Amino acid sequence: MTSMSASTPPRARHALVFGASGAIGAALLARLLEAGWTVDALSRTPRADGPQLRWHTGAFDAMPGTLPAQVDAIFSCGPLDQFSLWYPSATSACPRIVAFGSTSDATKQAASDPGERELAMRLRTSGERVFAAAQARGAAATLLRPTLVYGSGRDRNLSLIVALARRSGVFVLPADARGQRQPVHVDDLAAAAQAAVDAPAAYGQAFALPGGETLDYRTMVARTLACLQPAPRLLVLPGVLFDAALWAAHRAGRLQGLPPGAVTRMREDLVFDAGPAQAAFGYAPRAFRPAPSMFGIG
Ligand SMILES: NC(=O)c1ccc[n+]([C@@H]2O[C@H](COP(=O)([O-])OP(=O)(O)OC[C@H]3O[C@@H](n4cnc5c(N)ncnc54)[C@H](OP(=O)(O)O)[C@@H]3O)[C@@H](O)[C@H]2O)c1
Repeated sequence: MTSMSASTPPRARHALVFGASGAIGAALLARLLEAGWTVDALSRTPRADGPQLRWHTGAFDAMPGTLPAQVDAIFSCGPLDQFSLWYPSATSACPRIVAFGSTSDATKQAASDPGERELAMRLRTSGERVFAAAQARGAAATLLRPTLVYGSGRDRNLSLIVALARRSGVFVLPADARGQRQPVHVDDLAAAAQAAVDAPAAYGQAFALPGGETLDYRTMVARTLACLQPAPRLLVLPGVLFDAALWAAHRAGRLQGLPPGAVTRMREDLVFDAGPAQAAFGYAPRAFRPAPSMFGIG
């Protein structure tokens, strides 16, 4: 009879992580290393290796020939469209894929801006491509679709609002910016990826990953500004007045960087059900309790 000696350490599981230098990816990388995984990661910028961590320099359209031939799991925390084009002919064999997409695949589906509609379509097509390729390769894929992400100080949503408000001491919103939001912390997303990889109920499935609290846009911004020292003032204008001021700012060319449809969406509910992710892999995101460090301050 063969038996493993009590002194034989279990083999460390091996992951290939794309986007490991990004907001979600960095949180996932820290968790995987902490949990004893060996990690190979890709970045377009050369980075220093660490214990159990090997960086490869390259990009999806310029893959280095050094990636491992076999891993236990591939995590995609970078652009889903580019991952979906690389993965069908990937040289790294792997039974388990966990990829991040976005709930923008639904929320921007009927946007007035053609670029946003195209993004929604691209996200949906990319997700379908990942599932089809996984099936063809005998792997199990899971697609994770976060809502509005915060927590790393690198996002283009609340961190941008914080930066703008700290610069001028004031942030202006229309009174009817009451669309429902579910901000989700990067570490809850990293925990979700870590849990999903081991959950058979997540195989072949896509999950929305909202935050643990649903609140309206104005309350979300007010709570964010209130955690800062000194706290910038939130100036609330009647909707019509705000729209007139916005039109004037637009005419003066002062709205560069504001995504199309951003103001319209402040008035729209963007709400998703965490129930399926909770049932499949115990997803339990935190309530929205902002702190300055979550916006890169202090
Ligand atoms: N942030 C949000 O609010 C949000 C909301 C919903 C969904 N998501 C989705 O979640 C995922 C991660 O988001 P994030 O905010 O963590 O991203 P992020 O901070 O912008 O990081 C993007 C990562 O992708 C890598 N990357 C970019 N282009 C690449 C390329 N051509 N080849 C290889 N790697 C490339 C970058 O690596 P290097 O720069 O080191 O090369 C970086 O690590 C994305 O799919 C995003 O669409 C984000």
